[in-house]
Amino acid sequence: MMVHLETERLVLRRFTPGDTDLLVELDSDPEVMRWLTGGRATPREEVEGTVLPVYFSSYRRFPAFGHWAALERTSGEFLGWFEFRPPEPDRPREVELGYRLRRPAWGRGYATEGSRALIRRGFTELGVERVFAQTMTVNHRSRRVMEKSGLRYVRTFFADWPEAIEGSEHGEVEYVLERAEWQELQRAAR
Ligand SMILES: CC(C)(COP(=O)(O)OP(=O)(O)OC[C@H]1O[C@@H](n2cnc3c(N)ncnc32)[C@H](O)[C@@H]1OP(=O)(O)O)[C@@H](O)C(=O)NCCC(=O)NCCS
Repeated sequence: MMVHLETERLVLRRFTPGDTDLLVELDSDPEVMRWLTGGRATPREEVEGTVLPVYFSSYRRFPAFGHWAALERTSGEFLGWFEFRPPEPDRPREVELGYRLRRPAWGRGYATEGSRALIRRGFTELGVERVFAQTMTVNHRSRRVMEKSGLRYVRTFFADWPEAIEGSEHGEVEYVLERAEWQELQRAAR
C-alpha cells in the first residue's frame, strides 16, 4: 500500500488525527476559501467531526488514494493538500483531482508539481483510466493548474449549491485527462 509520495520539492503523506490545527488554519484564510465558500472558514468542529473522518474512511476504502497533506520537502512545512480519489465507489478507475494550498505557497508551481505526480502514479501504478477536476468558472488559478497538469476543458455546468457565492452565476467547469491522452503527452514530451 502506498501512503507516501515524494516529488522534487514536496512530500505527500496521509492525514492523521493530529492534523486538525493545520486544516483549521488553512481554511481560516478568506482568500483560500474564496471560490469554495465565498471566504467562510471551516469551523474546528467540522474539521474534527466531518472533514478528517471522511478522509480516514476513504483511506480504508481506497488505500492508495485520498486526501494528501503536502509538506515542503526541505523544511517539512505544511503547504496544504491534494485530493486524488474516486468519488464514486462503483467507478474506482475515475479519479477526482483537487488541491488547496496556504497562501504563502501560491504561485511557486507547487499545485502543478503535486498534481502531475499524482496523475503519473495514477496512470502508471494504480490502474486509473480517467482523471477529472472541477472548479468555479471564475477560479482562473485553479483552471491554470488543471491545464498545466494536462487536463482539457470539457464542459461548463450549473450545480445547485445551498449557498450562492460570488461568481457562482458563471457556473463551474470540468476538465478531464484520459489515460491514452496522458500517454500521448508523455511521448510528445520526450
Ligand atoms: C489553486 C491553487 C491550489 C493554485 O496553487 P499554486 O501552487 O499557486 O499553482 P501553480 O503555481 O502550480 O500554478 C498557478 C498558475 O496560475 C496562474 N495564475 C495565478 N493567478 C492567476 C489569475 N488571477 N488568473 C489566471 N491565472 C493565474 C499562475 O501564473 C500559474 O500559471 P503559470 O505557471 O502558467 O504562470 C491555490 O491558489 C489555492 O489553494 N487556492 C485556493 C483553493 C482553491 O481555490 N482550490 C481549487 C478549488 S477547485
